[in-house]
Amino acid sequence: MAEHGKTAQANIGVVGLAVMGSNLARNLASREGNTVAVYNRSPERTDTLMEEHGDAGFIASKTIEEFVDSLSKPRTAIIMVQAGKGTDAVISQLADLFEEGDIIVDGGNANFHDTIRREHDLKEKKLNFVGTGISGGEEGALKGPSIMPGGSAEAWETLGPILKSIAAVAEGEPCVTHIGTDGAGHFVKMIHNGIEYADMQLIAESYDLLRRVGGHEPAAIAKVFEEWNKGELESYLIEITAEVLKQVDEKTGKPLVDLIVDQAGSKGTGVWTVQNSVGLGVPVGGIAEAVFARAVSSKPDQRAAVQKTLKNRPEIQDPGENFEDDVQKALYASKMVAYAQGFDAIIAGAKEYGWSIDKGAVAKIWRGGCIIRAQFLNRIVDAYENDSTIATLLEDEYFAKAVADGEDAWRRIVAKAALSGIPVPGFSSALAYYDSLASERLPAALIQGQRDFFGAHTYKRTDSDKVFHTLWSGDRSEIETEPSTH
Ligand code: 6PG
Repeated sequence: MAEHGKTAQANIGVVGLAVMGSNLARNLASREGNTVAVYNRSPERTDTLMEEHGDAGFIASKTIEEFVDSLSKPRTAIIMVQAGKGTDAVISQLADLFEEGDIIVDGGNANFHDTIRREHDLKEKKLNFVGTGISGGEEGALKGPSIMPGGSAEAWETLGPILKSIAAVAEGEPCVTHIGTDGAGHFVKMIHNGIEYADMQLIAESYDLLRRVGGHEPAAIAKVFEEWNKGELESYLIEITAEVLKQVDEKTGKPLVDLIVDQAGSKGTGVWTVQNSVGLGVPVGGIAEAVFARAVSSKPDQRAAVQKTLKNRPEIQDPGENFEDDVQKALYASKMVAYAQGFDAIIAGAKEYGWSIDKGAVAKIWRGGCIIRAQFLNRIVDAYENDSTIATLLEDEYFAKAVADGEDAWRRIVAKAALSGIPVPGFSSALAYYDSLASERLPAALIQGQRDFFGAHTYKRTDSDKVFHTLWSGDRSEIETEPSTH
């Protein structure tokens, strides 16, 4: 097929050559067995890639038709453009030119609902659509990301070896696995990002406490994080935190962190995690608080107004003994909770959307390449290997012990933060979640009573399987009834 003058010789193509796309294309080209076709809507990016890295042997095209002609069958193209309308436009162009059995891969941070829709639409044209989460940022794309593909088993047969060739490697295994059908890959990537938000928030709270209660400067706190990175908290995010805290501003000689505006941005995947988890009935408080904390930080007017009104702030508490150790333990315990909540959301999503997701395999591919990569992921692998039916990760022996060992420190830290007026929404919501699960009785009983009072929503009794309603506005006798449907 060479109507447009190209020989079909590339086994993989990349559309969209901004940094992520270029780096992924370079990664692909650097691996044995791959010949990579590249295309970008505006030719400048293609020219830049060819000027700077043309020796990698790319087959560059000026038109989408040429690009398609340069791909061998089954044609496989990875789209690396901005999520949303841009993706739909490229999909539609490729779908017009691709033939039965060809594979369109979306490697952006797409909303998994869009991925389900796109897969469904393209299936009607007998095309394979694979929504793929790719984590690791620019460097990961170039050197080896963690890859979370969804889509059909048929597409995985062709795509699997290609993705394995470029993925990060952790303990000898490539950080890629077929997550499940249609939107499963983007769903799991979304949860990855939700956990990433929680992890970052917990680290940020630790820094704030070490600074404001501990009285340490950023450079000293960097050293604390470097130390922590040698133990069970070892992770990419802890590592880069130390790097950021060490950075000194050239102009002023001050720690850079003191010059960065304290308003955290976001691109949406954290919000999606919360929206979808709440819709699935999964309490992901740790992730939600991380999303809210970014939102609060980005409300300068409200912050200024409250700061003006509230003059008497509480006094910062004395750190007391072992403060650093306490923060470390509180961080680890809260992190356990965040991961437990994230995996709960994966389990609920799999059930709702009919995906068969291997939770241990997900933990394995997060050990390398991605933003939340950490040694600790092995503990999740072990937990599900021991018993894949556990009700929560917190039930697993390792997790239960980690949380129990940190419990006293966790409580001291949350109390000290509250008394000092330092916000620790991540730590405190994780502790509240843990205490909720650990409480034999919850005040939810009273909420059921209130609901029955104002809305006849009914309740169950502890001593019966039946459903009841109290005639609150009548003689307050109790009747057996049907569950409320309103
Ligand atoms: C990754 C990152 C990546 C990106 C997020 C950050 O896994 O490589 O999660 O996807 O950095 O989009 O999102 P925010 O801008 O929302 O923090």
